[in-house]
Amino acid sequence: MDKDIIIETARLILRKFKIEDANDIVEGLNNINVSHFLARVPYPYTKEDAIYFINESLNNNSYNFAIELKSENKVIGGTELTIIDTDNGIATGGIWINEKYWGKGYGTEAFGARIKYAFEELGLRRLENGYFKENEKSHKMQLRFGYKDEGIRRQRFISKSSNKLEDEYITGLLKDEWIR
Ligand SMILES: CC(C)(COP(=O)(O)OP(=O)(O)OC[C@H]1O[C@@H](n2cnc3c(N)ncnc32)[C@H](O)[C@@H]1OP(=O)(O)O)[C@@H](O)C(=O)NCCC(=O)NCCS
Repeated sequence: MDKDIIIETARLILRKFKIEDANDIVEGLNNINVSHFLARVPYPYTKEDAIYFINESLNNNSYNFAIELKSENKVIGGTELTIIDTDNGIATGGIWINEKYWGKGYGTEAFGARIKYAFEELGLRRLENGYFKENEKSHKMQLRFGYKDEGIRRQRFISKSSNKLEDEYITGLLKDEWIR
């Protein structure tokens, strides 16, 4: 993938991660309120974890976008898009926002830009997501874009931060159903 993609929204820039973002990532992810809803983020989350993640994100095939808040020149989150089936035009991937910045519409703004990129620039047909039980905030955010509930994968994850077995509540969005 072209790692130099820049997506600009009203308040945010979505771009590749840089090593200098490590402290911002730790500030956002070294927080169990954020990581317990994510499958693969350990707790505590250290600068070494962040540097490993940044380097990995620059070398893998996913679109790993840093979410930068323009007004503060600060990375307040991340969102990922990974094409899991090229033949069928399907991608997956999640989002997180630093808790200090919750409830201001940044998650919705970044997630919306990610969906637009997937359908309009990558020409994909279907996005697959999910959420853990009790993550109504994420669920609501997905429904707002037209995602539909598609079932439950029982005990799909052992959360790396909480070590809890988690069912995955599966959601999916077809391009035809997308609400901008
Ligand atoms: C899920 C998550 C990304 C949402 O991020 P966020 O920036 O808080 O989300 P938003 O502010 O866009 O929207 C959430 C709420 O704010 C409201 N909102 C939207 N725009 C707003 C604005 N301009 N001002 C105030 N509130 C606004 C939304 O209506 C929504 O309302 P709700 O609290 O009743 O659900 C964030 O909570 C998070 O990182 N959670 C932990 C990790 C996680 O769960 N990731 C998803 C895994 S599936």
